[in-house]
Amino acid sequence: MLSIIGTRRDCGIHGEAEFRFLAEGAASGSIPDYQLSSWLMAAVLNPLSIEETALLTMAMADSGERLNLADLPKPRVDKHSTGGVGDKTTIALLPLLASCGLTMVKMSGAGLGITGGTVDKLQSIPGFRVDLSPNEMMAQTKRIGLAITGQTPKLAPADKALYALRDVTGTVKSVPLIASSILSKKLAGGAETVVIDLKVGCGGFMKTIEEARELADAMLAVAKICGLNLRIAMTDMESPLGYAAGNALEIREAISFLQGSVENRFSELCHQLAGFTLQAVGKASTVSEGALMAKDAVKSGRAYEKATEWFSAQGADLSKCLDSLPIAPIQKEAFWEGTPGIVSRIRADLIGQAVLDLGGGRKQKGDSINYSVGVVLTIEPGSQVSRGQHIATIHANSDNGAQIASDAVQSAIQIGEPLNTGPIIELI
Ligand code: URA
Repeated sequence: MLSIIGTRRDCGIHGEAEFRFLAEGAASGSIPDYQLSSWLMAAVLNPLSIEETALLTMAMADSGERLNLADLPKPRVDKHSTGGVGDKTTIALLPLLASCGLTMVKMSGAGLGITGGTVDKLQSIPGFRVDLSPNEMMAQTKRIGLAITGQTPKLAPADKALYALRDVTGTVKSVPLIASSILSKKLAGGAETVVIDLKVGCGGFMKTIEEARELADAMLAVAKICGLNLRIAMTDMESPLGYAAGNALEIREAISFLQGSVENRFSELCHQLAGFTLQAVGKASTVSEGALMAKDAVKSGRAYEKATEWFSAQGADLSKCLDSLPIAPIQKEAFWEGTPGIVSRIRADLIGQAVLDLGGGRKQKGDSINYSVGVVLTIEPGSQVSRGQHIATIHANSDNGAQIASDAVQSAIQIGEPLNTGPIIELI
């Protein structure tokens, strides 16, 4: 390990054997944390090349179990988001795309900080199981075309160990390390086509378009070497996605979308991402043709029917879901106090922080979550607002908490030049 650290420190080049040693040692715990941390910092300062990043990705993917999806019908697709405020897209897209004939297999992590995790959102649904074993997951996917479960610790365990260290040693911020971390889990998950929704903006992991493009380019180059059909959508996270932010509230919005009764930036993103995915697997010749297929799947009720099957397979009843989701004891209406005009941005970081402060997210690993709290906006970027207009409902546990969140919503709203208000920045 000392020689591997020295190579990285001196800007040398690692070979496959070194990455395999590193990944196996991280997964088994045989390499001490102080040596892994030292290598990680050297790798931040002297970044891995694309070829090295691909070798690290494959070594981390091989450090634990790899799902074998060969028995499932093609095309087998994994949809991943880098995380954002109000991002309930996975919950809507999985049944939508399964209803269009795609096999959707997804492992999802729990959320930390202002970006909530899909697994947490699903856990707000009474009865919904997110602890499927690999066998249960395979059997369900074979039967109904989709399944989602929490990340198993057996999948890419080297990434789990390295990521935990990166989190506490200032070594998260490195394009090659982020690319290999994300892609190793996708490779181990077994799908041939992966669509990544790379969120860009103050509420996302990547704050600027330049940073996001650098990560997208690296992931695409690494995926090519690893034989993964990777497509990346860079999408806006300057403002929350759709109206709802908060676990059970987002489930309500996702269900309403599947019922065909949502029309906002969230529904537009769902249609566009579905179209992009259908095009990526050859089911549509263009993104817009795919988006039309997706709209038709919602309009005809096929997407909702598939969601009903999905909920039932994982222990929940979609027809009773809206009545059984938890409701916060306090609903406080917020009205616009600022100057009238067009909303240019609703700062997603401030809305995400407000939901976190209401108890809707985790500040630290292991924190428990209050599923019922959050914010439901009635405006989006591009909306016209006047003084006294209703802008949001705050769902809270206490009057004080509701007031703090209401103030946060007021300060998150920016009035100005109408921006490009669509959710898509670029489809790559
Ligand atoms: N998400 C991951 O899975 N890994 C990273 O390194 C960053 C974000």
